[in-house]
Amino acid sequence: MNAAFRIACVPIASPLVLAPMAGYTTSALRLLAKEAGCGLVFSETISSKAIFHGNERSWSLMAFQPAERPIALQLLGGDPEIVAHAVTRAEELAPDLIDINLGCPKPKVTSKREGAALLADPVRATAIVRAACKAARAPVTVKLRLPDEGARPEFIDFLRGLQDCGAAALTLHPRTVAEGFGGRARWEVFSAVAERISVPLIASGDAKNADDVRALLGMGCAAVMIGRAAIGNPYLFREILADLAGRPAPAQAPAERLSLCLRHLAMLARESDERTAVLVMRKQLGPYLKTVPGHKQLTAALVAIDRYADLAAAIDSIRRGLL
Ligand SMILES: Cc1cc2nc3c(=O)[nH]c(=O)nc-3n(C[C@H](O)[C@H](O)[C@H](O)COP(=O)(O)O)c2cc1C
Repeated sequence: MNAAFRIACVPIASPLVLAPMAGYTTSALRLLAKEAGCGLVFSETISSKAIFHGNERSWSLMAFQPAERPIALQLLGGDPEIVAHAVTRAEELAPDLIDINLGCPKPKVTSKREGAALLADPVRATAIVRAACKAARAPVTVKLRLPDEGARPEFIDFLRGLQDCGAAALTLHPRTVAEGFGGRARWEVFSAVAERISVPLIASGDAKNADDVRALLGMGCAAVMIGRAAIGNPYLFREILADLAGRPAPAQAPAERLSLCLRHLAMLARESDERTAVLVMRKQLGPYLKTVPGHKQLTAALVAIDRYADLAAAIDSIRRGLL
């Protein structure tokens, strides 16, 4: 059960996908995930309005390296014309896929009628996806949450409408905005959705291990997106793929996980600068150290370090202590 799949003309070598996660899924994590066998990576969400206004930081979020392919650049926006403009700009980098974000629950996004707010306005949401499909050379995919009413027939009709106007795959995180990240994602909706759409369905929400992936693929999903479980553990993709292939790999030893953490830190510094690398890595130190004895105190000490060289040395010293 190691099924490759396709999104329109784009072959994807494994059914595991790295979730878009703002502040985490920069090139560095995407490359490490790819190296571990992840089939498809997403950029974090990029505001089409910010691209329209020439915002440099937003533009820099589009950057990726050839080894990350296939990659989806994810755009957020509530205006079809502005989204179409951002798609045209994104196309300058020739991404494999363009993804439209209809799932962001943050109040600063939904208050502007963007992201998940569009689930309450299917006509506008469909117009945005149609405009994106028209402007894009690459296949366009859509990532959504559940609307407040859940997976009612109207929602399925909406998904079919997206596919009719050109969406080449759909990713569903089956929680409503109000549910945030609480409780369990409602996996029970996947079978009904997968049966009723003809494009690949990517499952998102709470997948942590090979059993979860097997269960979700068994519900008719073409692929499984992994988000939080891959933070501080990009090797997870390798572990899951090995298990799916029937040859479970040993869990990564804590010292090896810290070697990966050091590589990740160095890659972050190369893609931005040392100061940014420290800030981005700080949020991931807890998960990277999770399997180290005394990890809580160690993490507390590491997150207080400001200088790149000091942080790298401290992680390396913990790593050496584990050998
Ligand atoms: C810190 C964080 C940032 C996220 N940023 C994005 C984003 O930029 N775009 C998006 O579509 N989803 C975003 N998500 C949602 C994830 O892609 C995913 O759908 C969700 O976390 C559920 O999957 P998981 O249980 O595997 O984490 C984010 C989630 C987290 C935890």
